[in-house]
Amino acid sequence: MDTIKAIKGVKDILPEETPRWRFIEDVARRWALCYGYQEIRIPIFEFTALFARSIGAETDIVEKEMYTFPDRDGTSLTLRPEGTAGTVRAFIEHNRAADPLPQKYFYIGPMFRHERPQAGRLRQFHQFGAESFGTSDPRADVEVIALLWRLLSDLSLPDLTLEINSLGSSGDRAAYKPILLAFLSQQKSLLCANCRRRMESNPLRVLDCKVPDCRAATESAPRLTEHLSPEARAHFDQVLAGLVAIGIPYRLNHRLVRGLDYYCLTSFEITSNHLGAQNAVGAGGRYDGLVETLGGPAVPAVGFALGLERVSLMLPQASLSSLHECLYYVAAFGETGTKLGLVLLDELRRVGISTQCDYRAITLKAHLRQADRSKCRYAILLGDDEVIRGSVILRNLESKAQEELPLAGLSSLLKSRTFSS
Ligand code: HAM
Repeated sequence: MDTIKAIKGVKDILPEETPRWRFIEDVARRWALCYGYQEIRIPIFEFTALFARSIGAETDIVEKEMYTFPDRDGTSLTLRPEGTAGTVRAFIEHNRAADPLPQKYFYIGPMFRHERPQAGRLRQFHQFGAESFGTSDPRADVEVIALLWRLLSDLSLPDLTLEINSLGSSGDRAAYKPILLAFLSQQKSLLCANCRRRMESNPLRVLDCKVPDCRAATESAPRLTEHLSPEARAHFDQVLAGLVAIGIPYRLNHRLVRGLDYYCLTSFEITSNHLGAQNAVGAGGRYDGLVETLGGPAVPAVGFALGLERVSLMLPQASLSSLHECLYYVAAFGETGTKLGLVLLDELRRVGISTQCDYRAITLKAHLRQADRSKCRYAILLGDDEVIRGSVILRNLESKAQEELPLAGLSSLLKSRTFSS
């Protein structure tokens, strides 16, 4: 019989990988809390209309990447392709704007997009996202970028570049589009089929096409940043000045237009050339009109999301070397040793010390083999001889050094050693 496999582009995160994931999530949570963001948990599926109205009906995500299905009564539902739309929906639905602003949220969880799977690109992937509501001040943009930058730097991810652009106001974009379109029309024969189609519906997206011929053809395209209103220009200049003031380096990228329609003004991406084709680790920007578009009050907002698979691919092993999932292996053998071993295991776990054993091992030799495989730092040897002496042998599994310790009060002694170091 055929065995059932996981869906293409959907991965198991196995026990040997979860410490790395927990570590990344813990660091992200710690930084988010430090910047005053609070955790929100939003649903994994929503009405399809939410994503069509926020991300934009003509984006790749909505046109061809969403997992959409009818509910039993025929209502169209969609597995969330990202977290901003759901966070904004929750913000409106719970009338959060009636509470003092600004309000800052973060989330961690799976997202779903039907993309062509490759390294760092999955169909079920995970994002850590942060959304700041209620401040149009450019310092709020600087703050979200700083949160993203500081947490990635804390993880020691290599070769990070912050790329930044301004998409102006919707008025700026409306005025710029015919200028860009006039340029693109002259280059039409050089563009790929996709860009020729997109030219009419969403000409800005032609600028971030990755096809080399399209890039060459748009090299001298008029830039949106040269057509910004004075307000949008001032906003962008203040964001850049803020980044300089706190020492975060950036690179201006006039092609950075983002694949979601809700953005205005600041848009940014953090890339790394350690990642190959899918080089964006995290990305975001300002989306001042979205709360209103979805039926809420006019509340400005800015945020980002980080791709956790990509962070995991880049995380240096050294960042993890100090993580021992389990500290002690209890090697209890012999008649009385086995009995007291069960009690010792329970005592150690009750004081919060991570402990393992293998009930199948009967001899000391078998236990030591299992202890070495367990990746624990220490083994506690407890046989009948030790019981008679009222002690145990504590063996450092790396250095093989051993010391004898009293059995009575052992859990308190190890607790104080573990948690004071
Ligand atoms: P996004 O650029 O679509 O933005 O996704 C953000 C990050 O999620 C990407 O930079 C990438 O690291 C990761 N990502 C996206 N798709 C995949 C995939 N198929 N496989 C693996 N990782 C992926 C957003 O989602 C916006 N909601 C960000 C935002 C929040 N803007 C404002 N607030």
